Amino acid sequence: MRGSLFFVCLLFSLAVALDNGLARTPQMGFNSWNYYYCNVNETHMANAMDDIVNLGLDKLGYNYVVVDDCWALRERDAQGNMQSDPKSFPHGMKVLADRAHSKGLKFGLYSSAGYTTCAGRAASLGHEKQDAKLWASWGVDYLKYDNCDRGDVPAKKRYGDMRDALAATGRTIFYSICSWGTDGVAQWGAQYGNSWRTTDDIYNGQDAVTYNIVANDVDAAYAAPGGWNDPDMLRIGNGGQPIGLDRIQFGLWSLAKAPLILSCDLLKLSQKQLDVIRNTEVIAVNQDALGIQGRLVYDSPNQYQIWAGKQSNGDQVVAVVNLQSAGATLRLPFNLLKFAPSAQLKIRSLWDHSDLGIFSEGLDVKVAGRDCVMLRLTPVIDVSDKIFRLQPKGLPGGMRPSDQNNVNGNVETGSWNSEARMKWKVLDAGDGYVYLVEQKNGFYLDLQGGQTAVETSATTFTFTGHDSTKWKIVASPEPNYYKIINKASGFVLDSYKCNEVGENPGGFAGGFIKTWYDVNTPCQQWLFVPV
Ligand SMILES: *[C@@H]1O[C@H](CO)[C@@H](O)[C@H](O)[C@H]1NC(C)=O
Repeated sequence: MRGSLFFVCLLFSLAVALDNGLARTPQMGFNSWNYYYCNVNETHMANAMDDIVNLGLDKLGYNYVVVDDCWALRERDAQGNMQSDPKSFPHGMKVLADRAHSKGLKFGLYSSAGYTTCAGRAASLGHEKQDAKLWASWGVDYLKYDNCDRGDVPAKKRYGDMRDALAATGRTIFYSICSWGTDGVAQWGAQYGNSWRTTDDIYNGQDAVTYNIVANDVDAAYAAPGGWNDPDMLRIGNGGQPIGLDRIQFGLWSLAKAPLILSCDLLKLSQKQLDVIRNTEVIAVNQDALGIQGRLVYDSPNQYQIWAGKQSNGDQVVAVVNLQSAGATLRLPFNLLKFAPSAQLKIRSLWDHSDLGIFSEGLDVKVAGRDCVMLRLTPVIDVSDKIFRLQPKGLPGGMRPSDQNNVNGNVETGSWNSEARMKWKVLDAGDGYVYLVEQKNGFYLDLQGGQTAVETSATTFTFTGHDSTKWKIVASPEPNYYKIINKASGFVLDSYKCNEVGENPGGFAGGFIKTWYDVNTPCQQWLFVPV
């Protein structure tokens, strides 16, 4: 018995992700390569740190500042240690790491899982432990690990040895695998690193951006908190690409939970480009805690694409991408999204922070040529002045006062029988809250004694207008279901024991309704059935 349990644990531990506590959301920051290439020096890196802070980018999550290839000499020193290039980095790497830390930033370095880097500098194959230890002593927080000059050593060996060497330093170091999508890396990347490149390097132009993100889409299932698919860096601010393409890239990268790594002269970013990379509502999509990679859900080649992804609060975010050079009105049919067919959706436009209204079935979206509109869709129910049965998930019944006439009685679940006490009218209580009024006596759903503690019983009471009688109805992650949140306490309405019907076949009277922490159980998800 003990033996088999141990065996199960061992199997499990081999399959789980690298757990260094990092990358709960995709990494954001700056990398030197796509702008400075091999000309990078310590002035550039110090300036990038200053610019990030001065532009307020650090406050938005852009925290990693990474020197790419060419910081190291080709030769190691007499002890076999890597050495920084004294011409371009006269003060060494520790000074830069310290500078990053003094600004609240994190510092990253580059090496290759090969004998030399892509630019022919010293690389780490066979020196993993020594190099990782040295970097840790400098205060390095992030490693981008490339794939050049790798000989015939298998990828998992090369990337695994560095993973283990980083762990052995005792310093927490973000591990960004850069093997260009080779060797099926997406399938094993999460066990080795915090992100892994899924594609070749990205270049300027519409094709590179859409090519990389479509190639990256194939691996969507492998992305999750702790490890992300990486379709390479942002081109924004590089090569004069049009602002519409900047929006396409930033929008799709955000939706696909890709790393958001800038690689340009930050001081040369235009106001429009800054508006793109500082858009808090789009960044929030990238950094959403659920960590589900948005997918390509509709593709009309050379015309338009629709990408969509679910967010932790039950919303879907949609990018409508116009691939044509002329502006167009493009149809977003809601049946592409995983909402109920009859769902009403409140739609917000993320680039300009505006509410578009409530729609059903679909939306015609005006998109400029080679541009992208980002939308957040929230399911809403038109509840005003309507009467519903309130049914917890998985139960055929509904919510009702347990005593038909007692003003201060408990509320429970019961089998549906069309009684007036099982019908609840939803009345507007202002500020996005509603009252729930049962139709036998006209009592209001309330909390016992107006208490705000967790696990307070739901009761009915006469109208008081107190916050304990006000409820917010928000979409649950489960399509069609809603959470009911109390204004006074902030806890959610929970049909206690709703999923234990098996113990109480034929009915579930006595399943009292309480408030509880928001833990997304079926007992906290309610269907509003019009009656
Ligand atoms: C870095 O390069 C810039 C030119 O791009 C130059 O002005 C600066 O002095 C250089 N810094 C170092 C330390 O070489």
